[in-house]
Amino acid sequence: LFQTLAAGGPANAAPAGAGAAAGPAVTPFTVPLPVPKVLRPYRRTRSADHYAVAMSRTSLEILPGRRTEVLTYNGSFPGPTIRARSGRTAVVRQINLLDMPTSVHLHGANNPVESDGGMMDTIAPGRSKTYVYANRQPGATLWTHDHAHHMESEHVYRGLSGLYLLGDEQEDALGLPSGRYEVPLVLRDAHFDASGRMVYTMDDAENRTTILVNGRPWPYMKVEGRKYRFRMLNSSNLRIFILALSDGSQVTQIGADGGLLPAPAPTPVLVLSPGERADFVIDFSKYAPGTQLELSNMLGPGPADLVGRIMRFDVGDRTPDDSRVPDVLTTLPALPNPTVERTFELQMDEPGSGGHQAYINGRTFDANRIDTEIKWGTTEVWTVTNASVTVPHNFHTHLVQFRILERDGQPVYPAEAGLKDTVLLFPGQTVKLQMTFDTHRGVYPYHCHMIDHSAMGMMAQMKIV
Ligand code: C2O
Ligand code: CU
Repeated sequence: LFQTLAAGGPANAAPAGAGAAAGPAVTPFTVPLPVPKVLRPYRRTRSADHYAVAMSRTSLEILPGRRTEVLTYNGSFPGPTIRARSGRTAVVRQINLLDMPTSVHLHGANNPVESDGGMMDTIAPGRSKTYVYANRQPGATLWTHDHAHHMESEHVYRGLSGLYLLGDEQEDALGLPSGRYEVPLVLRDAHFDASGRMVYTMDDAENRTTILVNGRPWPYMKVEGRKYRFRMLNSSNLRIFILALSDGSQVTQIGADGGLLPAPAPTPVLVLSPGERADFVIDFSKYAPGTQLELSNMLGPGPADLVGRIMRFDVGDRTPDDSRVPDVLTTLPALPNPTVERTFELQMDEPGSGGHQAYINGRTFDANRIDTEIKWGTTEVWTVTNASVTVPHNFHTHLVQFRILERDGQPVYPAEAGLKDTVLLFPGQTVKLQMTFDTHRGVYPYHCHMIDHSAMGMMAQMKIV
């Protein structure tokens, strides 16, 4: 991946000059960063927390001074954050007050089929469904988002998306920055028309030139001169972010999709394709009060362009800080010997070819077809290739966290070596993934998480028997 970047990087979705011409002008770094509310359980028992969420159409302020209609979980954009605990059950009743079917998937978790939010397992308008999450996995940055077949990309784009932060005791004991020093950052792009309406056109990356963080455009955040932990998610449909601080200094990545890394990994860039998460720490105590530090996207037409700007940290006075980032964070599970190998090829009708379909191993998604049959308990190695010539893809599996053994024959960098459920593949790249199917049985999808592509067919099903 670094080699691709060093060579100038592949063409990203956004062409030069796209700018923000499409929507009302917003001056970057004039809106304060909001933090999504934490959802309170309405009932707590000895072993479970019960939550209620209503999906509704709401108008709220995204661009300054305008109202935009969005789809929401509990009226907020993005939805409220659920803070769950490893080993403690969360029961989430989802009430669909929209006029179309929805399905709620907890991305990164292992849940039985009936609580996985499958694309055909939808909640009809006016109905509700109760999802039960046992949270049998270590602490991680998870994500609830819509998955209703053929509608998921538009639904997620319009707002059915919210963080689910899973914590555990081992993590608590580390002494990482917490409370108001642990801040979610949900990044995405969007296309607004001149009146501030959000426009969705399938596979239209070019016009999604407004960058939102926690639902507001190019925000600034006032920080104290101390350490902060950031829980970052790229919830975009198509945009890849390669983020760097404007002073070129490193951030300390401590976790990826499925939880903490074995050890902190200092890195000058954070690479996040749609659906990927990064857990990282920035120590602002090294900056003079008054410093303005930008977080920029290196994978854009250029840092001066609006899609190259993300947000700004305004550093204040130094404050006392007893948080720590220990040298050892966790131990990853051992890698059992794989007994089954499979290959997957991601392909899409090339832009300009006239076709608008996307494929895995030559086939578009069919809900009535099982593409891969897997024996419960096996450890497998999947070799996944992006056979597209110009289009990046990524690969996401439901149910399992995998390990990336290699990319194009090379070991991956430390931040990618932890537990992952989504992996980026630039055109022509190949990754080898290893995973063990030892939790639930049943039918689950795997797909490209550039979800306009999965809606175009780049999705398939595995059955664990
Ligand atoms: Cu994030 Cu099939 O999902
Ligand atoms: Cu794709």
